[in-house]
Amino acid sequence: MVREWDPRTASSAEIASLLEMLNAILAADLPQDPPWQGTSMREYLSEVMPGERRISWVAQAETPDEGQPGAILGHVQVLLLGDIGVLEVLVDPTQRRGGLGRRLVRLAARRVYQEGFQSMGVEVVGGTPAVAFYESLGFTRDYVETRSVLDLAGVDWSALATTVAGIGDGYRLQFHPGGPPDDLIEAYARTKAEIRDLDDGELRPSSYDPQRLRDSLDCLHRRGMQPYIVSALHEPTGEVAGLTEVVVPAQHPTRADQYDTIVLQHHRGHGIDRAIKARMLLELRSAQPGLTQVQTWNAQSNEAMLAVNADLGYRPDRHWCEYGAEVAELVHRLDAQG
Ligand SMILES: CC(C)(COP(=O)(O)OP(=O)(O)OC[C@H]1O[C@@H](n2cnc3c(N)ncnc32)[C@H](O)[C@@H]1OP(=O)(O)O)[C@@H](O)C(=O)NCCC(=O)NCCS
Repeated sequence: MVREWDPRTASSAEIASLLEMLNAILAADLPQDPPWQGTSMREYLSEVMPGERRISWVAQAETPDEGQPGAILGHVQVLLLGDIGVLEVLVDPTQRRGGLGRRLVRLAARRVYQEGFQSMGVEVVGGTPAVAFYESLGFTRDYVETRSVLDLAGVDWSALATTVAGIGDGYRLQFHPGGPPDDLIEAYARTKAEIRDLDDGELRPSSYDPQRLRDSLDCLHRRGMQPYIVSALHEPTGEVAGLTEVVVPAQHPTRADQYDTIVLQHHRGHGIDRAIKARMLLELRSAQPGLTQVQTWNAQSNEAMLAVNADLGYRPDRHWCEYGAEVAELVHRLDAQG
């Protein structure tokens, strides 16, 4: 049975069943990734930024077992943001190649069409069945990044301390667990605006203005994700010359996610990128003692950042792609495929 599903009102048993399916998928497709924990799972699935909407459906086993709801065997959600519907589809490994994935995409695409959106996007992990799946549905690849993973067990902590000390004169590093303080928000948002152009076409828009930045931090907290920030303040001008953001999700607290790292163009060449990332790792070591890995995503063209990450010990893991489709064409194609 496939039905629209609201994670805010779903039973705890359904949330647990979805988590179980997600972990079975991780074990099948990304066995090196840590399994997810149930902490804040409901919030993770339901909380959104102001102005965004998420619509979900589940495929559930037909026969309830002793009054319990049937296991969740498939899940699709679409996040309506800006002018795009961002899709996520999960099918239990035991149920694959029976057409369920295609059926779920068709359901979501029809709704996105009815809502008046013209394009859909999806993140697709390289080396998994999802690549052939989305290509078979006519999605095309718009963008490829490389995911890299750092094992903290292999980090040379004293070398990191030396890197931090190597930052140029006039810069002060600051650590902000939870997010930038109020008096820094405006300067921080101005620095984030610099990468607006680079973000074009990505599915995870950055926060360019102070209010959007506050909303985005609030949303992260509500979803059980703890942000940490290191900024490099240029003392003579008060500019945030550089910043780096890492998020520790309650759902997989042993592996943190690197978000943006930015050094303003006119502050490059002072060792800021290396220093802020090194300081972040040193801070995380005490703030999050359970953390064992950090993962980061970089455009293959971003050679400077790839070099910094390689020096820190990050190892390339796999491709991470963004695929897109025009909604009307997709609906038409899926209807024709039956
Ligand atoms: C991608 C996914 C949704 C596909 O679900 P599914 O129910 O197996 O898909 P379908 O049966 O509807 O397949 C539709 C078509 O996609 C293509 N396809 C799907 N899986 C494929 C595979 N493993 N190899 C080649 N083609 C494949 C085929 O053309 C298939 O049609 P066919 O079976 O008639 O040949 C499922 O594998 C999945 O959940 N993957 C995990 C997704 C994910 O996000 N993982 C990352 C982190 S958890």
